[in-house]
Amino acid sequence: MRTLVTGGTGYLGRTFSNILDQDPEIVNGGITYLVRKTSNPEAIKRLKSKRNAKTEECSLLDIGGLEDVLKRGNYDVIFHLAAQVKGPNVYENNTSGTRNLCYALSDRQEGPRLIFVSTLATRCLEEDGAICSDTPYNPKTDYSKSKQECEKIIKEYAKVGILPTIICPPAIVGPYDAEMESTYRLIKATGKLGFALTLGDGKNRISLIHADDLSRALIAAAHSDETIDKTYVLFDPTLENYTMQDYVRDIARVLHGKEIKVVGTPKKLLRLAAQVAGKNVMLTPKKIDELTSCFACDPAEIEGFREDISWTWRPREKIPNGIEACAKSFGLIK
Ligand SMILES: NC(=O)c1ccc[n+]([C@@H]2O[C@H](COP(=O)([O-])OP(=O)(O)OC[C@H]3O[C@@H](n4cnc5c(N)ncnc54)[C@H](OP(=O)(O)O)[C@@H]3O)[C@@H](O)[C@H]2O)c1
Repeated sequence: MRTLVTGGTGYLGRTFSNILDQDPEIVNGGITYLVRKTSNPEAIKRLKSKRNAKTEECSLLDIGGLEDVLKRGNYDVIFHLAAQVKGPNVYENNTSGTRNLCYALSDRQEGPRLIFVSTLATRCLEEDGAICSDTPYNPKTDYSKSKQECEKIIKEYAKVGILPTIICPPAIVGPYDAEMESTYRLIKATGKLGFALTLGDGKNRISLIHADDLSRALIAAAHSDETIDKTYVLFDPTLENYTMQDYVRDIARVLHGKEIKVVGTPKKLLRLAAQVAGKNVMLTPKKIDELTSCFACDPAEIEGFREDISWTWRPREKIPNGIEACAKSFGLIK
């Protein structure tokens, strides 16, 4: 299986590349990681050190370069993890990158498999409920709008030969989650004063998935033809009735080794702080609306996916272990 991975230098890419390295069929076929001139050199070095792996330097925004990379590699499967998760032009960059990738793949007679990592944020709920893959779209931020549009682009290209699977994960828990570092540090600091802050009242139900479990699911999806043209919502179903408050409590427990009181933060105050912080941070006013929405999922989704991959995968990592790995990666605990 000749394999191309986009986004290998990112947070999920780090765990994904470690897990991919354990799949003999994929390793034997050779793995190419798409990196950019501006990617972190340490991350590129780490990817190059994987078994039977190499890198190709090209941005997804460079259509000509992308066509050359894809012609050279003639890949059987593409794991498309790359995305801009915040900052300016996030919508344009993500949709152009995915469109370029699909376009460059579409001249093949027989379509390659395309495993696309979308996000559950495309489908969050205003009221309590349970999300499944056919829940109507409800993106709140430019980022989640871009992922919705990427899903649409991929489905259009499926008509001309690409064989896609779309996976929508909730927040991914694992080591080196740069976007969560400031949250962990805040919980570490306030925990010393005896409390930890949650967003709004924190009673909204959410889902999470461990980075190892998601990585294994992406690989399992690529190994099964039953997943072609399907969209899956994947999460850890053992976290039943889990709320944002519970997540903050679990992070605080890992950081402080004891129970810490979780205190709500008025949404109005959060929105004001986000407005002052500007656009280049994760916690924008729209993101606050998103993070206080319901992200609970329908457990039937997991069973549907498991059936399509002949029961070769199930979530098996404990979320608190993922939180611990994340805290350790920031040097916040030993
Ligand atoms: N983190 C979560 O909790 C979460 C939850 C749900 C879904 N997701 C999805 O999971 C995927 C991975 O997210 P992440 O958290 O790992 O993000 P991340 O750490 O920000 O990594 C993003 C990756 O995308 C690459 N990239 C961005 N723009 C690119 C372009 N124009 N051309 C080539 N590569 C480009 C980056 O390359 P550089 O190293 O060069 O910047 C990096 O490797 C994304 O699709 C995201 O939407 C994440």
